[in-house]
Amino acid sequence: MTLTASLKTRIASLSSTASAEKDALLPPPQHIAIIMDGNGRWAKARNLPRLAGHRAGTENLRRVLRACKNHGVKIVTLYAFSTENWRRPAEEVEGLMKLLETYIDRELEALHREGVQIRHLGRLERIPPALQRKIQHAIEYTRNNTELILNVALNYGGRAEIVDAARRMLAEGLRPEDVTEATFSRYLYTTGLPDPDLIIRTSGEYRVSNFLIWQGAYAEYYITEVLWPDFDEKELAKAIEHYRRRERRFGGLKA
Ligand code: IPE
Ligand code: IPE
Ligand code: MG
Repeated sequence: MTLTASLKTRIASLSSTASAEKDALLPPPQHIAIIMDGNGRWAKARNLPRLAGHRAGTENLRRVLRACKNHGVKIVTLYAFSTENWRRPAEEVEGLMKLLETYIDRELEALHREGVQIRHLGRLERIPPALQRKIQHAIEYTRNNTELILNVALNYGGRAEIVDAARRMLAEGLRPEDVTEATFSRYLYTTGLPDPDLIIRTSGEYRVSNFLIWQGAYAEYYITEVLWPDFDEKELAKAIEHYRRRERRFGGLKA
């Protein structure tokens, strides 16, 4: 083989390895779920009240949702308030609920125009009635949109969700043999939706905090030190890039 010919062969084999590596990338996640944590620390670092952190956190939603859409994501699930967050001081809880109301008032029309379908995951009970009404209106108003499904987990707990599913199955008289994993999935708040591919947690905490404990069984986790109000489109791109390099085996072996 001449030198040029052998070089050509070498280059061809190198570029085929490169394209094989590229082929091995996972497709972008279809469903991303986010534990939006670190608002309090963000505020503390600036000597601001915790609520200022929550306000900055809600203001961050617009750019992250837009970025998700640009990445071709079809479902976004946001952890906004857990069943455990009621343990916080009343002032913070009330402030948070008020912020969520303002968020719906301000953003609903824009979300609707962008084709976002809003859903609620969690128990409506205990949410202040004014906010409940706004949530129900937002769900109704956006129900036929198909660009992006936005699940808002509010007064959400993974354990409460499983308990609620079991109660409904019993109330509807399901027989033991009817209760399969598929039936369970249908009775969860996320009924009809695929499980999250990627769960992001901001602000560096390595725990699940009762979020999507059923649906996340085989999700890929990405944890970043970045605090939620600072988590921008670049950070999202980083998370997706990490995800795409993962190998999902679901208990099997490498393909
Ligand atoms: C997340 O931010 C928002 C909610 C839980 C409502 P935090 O309020 O938990 O912020 P940190 O963890 O105290 O920094
Ligand atoms: C999880 O964050 C809940 C939300 C982001 C809404 P927390 O800040 O409540 O979680 P823990 O208490 O640190 O586990
Ligand atoms: Mg927190």
